[in-house]
Amino acid sequence: MDLSVEQFRLDGRTALVTGSGRGVGEGIARVLGACGATVIVNDLHADRAQSVADAIIGSGGSAFSSVFDVTDAAAVEQAITALADDVASVDILVHNAGIPDIGARPNQFVDMPEADWQRQIDLNLSAMMRVVQAVLPGQLANEWGRIIQISSGASTRGLSIGVSAYGAAKAGSEALIRHLSVECGSRGVTANALALGMMEGLGDVDDPALERMIRQIPIGRLGRGADVGAAILWLCSEAGGLVNGQVIHLNGGTVFGR
Ligand SMILES: NC(=O)c1ccc[n+]([C@@H]2O[C@H](COP(=O)([O-])OP(=O)(O)OC[C@H]3O[C@@H](n4cnc5c(N)ncnc54)[C@H](O)[C@@H]3O)[C@@H](O)[C@H]2O)c1
Repeated sequence: MDLSVEQFRLDGRTALVTGSGRGVGEGIARVLGACGATVIVNDLHADRAQSVADAIIGSGGSAFSSVFDVTDAAAVEQAITALADDVASVDILVHNAGIPDIGARPNQFVDMPEADWQRQIDLNLSAMMRVVQAVLPGQLANEWGRIIQISSGASTRGLSIGVSAYGAAKAGSEALIRHLSVECGSRGVTANALALGMMEGLGDVDDPALERMIRQIPIGRLGRGADVGAAILWLCSEAGGLVNGQVIHLNGGTVFGR
């Protein structure tokens, strides 16, 4: 195959990016919009989602907002069904919505209330199951699709910032990606995860634990949403079709500890 820049265009594709009203998701949505995809900007907050959609449109792209809570099974189903009025299919799913409880209970798994555990697992793992199950039938019917899960280095690295449940949930999401890649690869749908290191805007950089972690990043800077968008562009392009079932670490070369 001769490689051409055209293979990195996403014209004619529709991409749903969950939790893209700000932060990493916003960066992803903007890159996909700039490269030709019609972007569905999901968030819990209508104002955030609309402002990102407006920014994509203002830069010459195509986007609209879709406000729903990824932890609410009925809301997910209703929203994805409603999307059929606006788009033929959700070709690309970037499941980005997720939040750690950084600093809330540092080093305190030992007495973590079950409700805190459940909340983290629900948002950072079970929500993925709901959103993927909502879009996957359409992708399989079209024999083309891309599932991209935004994970975290906390899935493979022990940290002392109170993210044990979050890390466990993200590790589960990576396992689900591997199984999806085998179940769906022969039917034109690839599934991959991006495990992010520390990103701009994360937490309080005066926190000594966070400060120590920033000093460990070999490239000397935090990640940006646009870095993640660029990797997703490759995975979603025709040129990225060989990549399936992988967890790619985007962390500036941070070396893993325990
Ligand atoms: N920021 C980092 O350093 C970092 C590091 C590793 C992994 N990650 C991962 O990157 C992803 C994005 O993180 P971020 O730092 O940009 O987060 P963020 O908190 O800045 O933004 C998340 C967005 O998701 C929305 N959201 C939250 N819960 C939602 C729900 N239930 N339904 C729909 N939308 C919801 C929020 O309203 C918010 O706009 C997450 O999956 C996170 O785990 C981030």
